[in-house]
Amino acid sequence: MDLKNNILLKRLPKHIAIIMDGNGRWAKQKGMLRAFGHENGTKAVREVVEACAELGVANLTLYAFSTENWNRPKLEVQTLMKLLVSSLKKEIKTLQDNNIRLSAIGNLTSLPSKVYKELHEVIELTNQNNRMTLTLALSYGSREELLNTVKEISKKVKNNIISPELIDESIINEHLYTQNLPDVDLLIRTSGEQRISNFLLWQIAYAELYFTKTLWPDFTKQHLYEAIIEYQKRERRFGKTSEQLN
Ligand code: IPE
Ligand code: IPE
Ligand code: MG
Repeated sequence: MDLKNNILLKRLPKHIAIIMDGNGRWAKQKGMLRAFGHENGTKAVREVVEACAELGVANLTLYAFSTENWNRPKLEVQTLMKLLVSSLKKEIKTLQDNNIRLSAIGNLTSLPSKVYKELHEVIELTNQNNRMTLTLALSYGSREELLNTVKEISKKVKNNIISPELIDESIINEHLYTQNLPDVDLLIRTSGEQRISNFLLWQIAYAELYFTKTLWPDFTKQHLYEAIIEYQKRERRFGKTSEQLN
């Protein structure tokens, strides 16, 4: 049965964020090197990108490389960076065919120049697309983002562009890397780990959390539909009582 038919299209999450985890364990289970897991993880990326675009989800954000991931063995970091460049090149057609705009968040200037260049090329190429925004979190860490936000706002205070009394949540939102994105509605993490790992701390304040044991390379459209169906069963109260909502 196609689970897609059980999704209420009127109540789709506006912003889905995914912590794509478990590539290494997936490869290990198969007696293969971790790189094999990362390569197969790109198939799952295509699955969720297409599924979200087809459904009409407006924003999808994927955690692809964290600030902490720089501490992995040099060879693995190199493999991941190479894979990024080749995937970006390969997926331009999928993005154009599906009218998807690519965006990126994170400390992007710390990426190798090849990655940075390819990334910006695809961002430029797709910047008129408007069916869905796909955001890649690359060299992303939520604390680094918040630190950067504090610095940016401080500079404006110092130069009398912002007065400290007027700093509110919307000013903070405008200075985050995610400035143009709505808050996360649904956060998915694969591989059975139940932690946030420095991802979008501010933006997930009221997100529904969904954890699945499925390892990332095994994640398919049907798995995404399952997560959305579960999300739609939840009552999002935002501090109110159930009675107030009905
Ligand atoms: C997620 O899979 C991909 C990245 C973090 C880049 P992992 O590489 O973390 O896989 P596990 O968690 O070791 O299985
Ligand atoms: C989180 O996965 C980062 C990404 C998915 C890119 P990790 O595998 O790096 O997370 P931890 O370190 O196990 O929490
Ligand atoms: Mg992991």
